[in-house]
Amino acid sequence: MSPTDERVEALLARMTLAEKVGQMTLFTTDWGQTGPTIRAGYADDIRRGACGALFNSHTVAFTRELQRIAVEETRLQIPLIFGYDVVHGYRTILPIPLAEAASWDLAAIERSARVAATEAAAAGLHWTFAPMVDVARDPRWGRVMEGAGEDAFLGSRIAAARVRGFQGGGLGNTDAVMACVKHFAAYGAPIAGREYNTVDMSERYFREHYLPPYAAGVRAGAATVMTSFNDFDGVPASGSEFLLTDVLRGELGFEGFVVTDYTSINEMVAHGVAANDAAAGELAAGAGVDMDMQGAVFQRYLADSVAAGRISEARIDDAVRRILQAKVALGLFDDPYRFCDEERERREVLSPAHREAARDVARRSVVLLKNDAAVLPLARDARLLLVGPLAQSRVDMLGAWHGAGVADECVSLFDGITAAHQGKLEVERGCDIDGDDRSGFDAAVAAAARADVVLVAVGESAEMSGEAAARAEIGLPGVQSALVEALAATGKPVAVVLMNGRPLAIPTVAERATALVEGWWLGSEAGNALADVLYGDYNPAGKLPMSVPRSVGQVPLYYGEKSTGRPFDPASKWTSKYIDLPNAPLFPFGFGLSYTSFGYGEPGVDRSRFRAGERVTVSVTVTNTGDRAGEEVVQLYVRDVVASVTRPQKQLLGFEKIELRPHEARLVRFELGEEDLRFYRRDMSYGSEPGEFEIMVGGSSADLQSVRIVLE
Ligand code: NOJ
Repeated sequence: MSPTDERVEALLARMTLAEKVGQMTLFTTDWGQTGPTIRAGYADDIRRGACGALFNSHTVAFTRELQRIAVEETRLQIPLIFGYDVVHGYRTILPIPLAEAASWDLAAIERSARVAATEAAAAGLHWTFAPMVDVARDPRWGRVMEGAGEDAFLGSRIAAARVRGFQGGGLGNTDAVMACVKHFAAYGAPIAGREYNTVDMSERYFREHYLPPYAAGVRAGAATVMTSFNDFDGVPASGSEFLLTDVLRGELGFEGFVVTDYTSINEMVAHGVAANDAAAGELAAGAGVDMDMQGAVFQRYLADSVAAGRISEARIDDAVRRILQAKVALGLFDDPYRFCDEERERREVLSPAHREAARDVARRSVVLLKNDAAVLPLARDARLLLVGPLAQSRVDMLGAWHGAGVADECVSLFDGITAAHQGKLEVERGCDIDGDDRSGFDAAVAAAARADVVLVAVGESAEMSGEAAARAEIGLPGVQSALVEALAATGKPVAVVLMNGRPLAIPTVAERATALVEGWWLGSEAGNALADVLYGDYNPAGKLPMSVPRSVGQVPLYYGEKSTGRPFDPASKWTSKYIDLPNAPLFPFGFGLSYTSFGYGEPGVDRSRFRAGERVTVSVTVTNTGDRAGEEVVQLYVRDVVASVTRPQKQLLGFEKIELRPHEARLVRFELGEEDLRFYRRDMSYGSEPGEFEIMVGGSSADLQSVRIVLE
């Protein structure tokens, strides 16, 4: 037995059943006007060993006092774990995760999670409820902002990078927090994009497109996993033995602890699979849940379930063991106050270095979608009109799930432009984010007449995406689209900066704007990062991690569609298509422009036939054909031409972000083998099938050149 195990076993042997269940109980604290508070009863719960972890408790001062109760006033002196939704930053707010995914820059994403973890750990925290790795193909769902988009491969790489970033050099370091891969499983596919709705998908689709990022997060060493609110194949995730035991423990080999989402045990009553909370608790514990978030179901009923023989004490011990192991790994038994260092908190939280890192990842997250007449980059001495309801907003730059972020500590676009611009600058609001007030249009249009170029910031307010923020219409809210049209009608070049948490269906704006920049919600340094891009101090290189639809009627929309038996043919009515819109998205997955341009040579392979155990090298020459240095994300996709089951027409299999000087050419190589071509075959076994594969290379999922290889 390892020293950790010995320590845990010795403690477990001394615990009463009630104390064990206490370790399986997680409660929230609150944050009022006057500072943090704890609900009546919870402090007593801690004292009697009936609560082993808290969330939403942060800052050294607050967590220290709660920890003091746990280690000085309880019988067994077991320290508490403090968790928080540090999703894209604690106090220094980094771009929303969907934006970061657009960077396709794994090092930058890892660094971002590192910044978040360093600040969180300095503020007394041990645990973040992140990363959210739910694949999402329906932008109506508000939580697409929290994930890495529509693709399992990109999502898996990013999931691992985030786990590495949060957990740093390993738990036990005082700048590392436990990651929590969530929401297990398939939470990103609620029917019709409606929050908390039923999920219904085949096991094949689940395994191919939704499971891989969870698996990657677990493989990267995530200490915890959170269950999801939805049901899966008729069973709510928090009561699903298939998900929590067979797949998570059995197949993925997960060894950490499983926490539920907020009251999701209790919600099994509303789901209609448990008659009451006690029965729901038994479903959850039996399925493999280790910790009950906020529902108090375990706390109230689990000991009775054990006494009645419906849950074994061995199952309880198993859960408690995992939780205690985490507390040992965090070093809390050695020093429960090791995350309570006020001096460190002052030094790390919102440090200049963290702000600089936030600015860097923010500009890497920007996607240039259109740039007619090279209207961007802006000239610093131009007569500039800055307009739009988001132009001066700081609070919306935080985005949803902004931890302890403070609006006034954010740089708005206006702040960033003011610092960078040297010519005449006028500012107009134009309209609100929502509502139908057009009274500001005239002044904006008049100001446009006096300007050389118009910069318009439109989009969503921070609460329009995120949890419980599904939208049935996914265009620009209110009269923002009309504002852009009115400005474009002046004939002046109009550069539109979008600020949003989801892909927006904005065909008219995309057509009328001279330039279009996807600026997401970029966090504390949003305005500076945008200015870096808009003035060309940084050459944008982001690529969309989700397809942008033309209309909500196209969703769910994703690049990895199957062919169907009647593939789209514009000339034939009887093929898979709409009669009122093209099938193609407004902007495809993987798409993004630069201030320079890139040319792709024909891809080649070093062998056209290969067997298992052999490697094929796919190579392509990429040339910077412009006069400016720039970065390009070179993407590799595959199609299995004939298989025992229908397969996507394209599936991302690799990517590399390269930087090229003006006119520089580089040979980019990807290696692949038989293992990269595996899938769930007709009988659900996982493996490859011999035959022909189309390998595609390019700078966007919709702009690819191909070469064929044969697996023998
Ligand atoms: C509910 C959300 O679904 C989950 O992601 C979050 O971690 C918890 N609430 C705690 O805030």
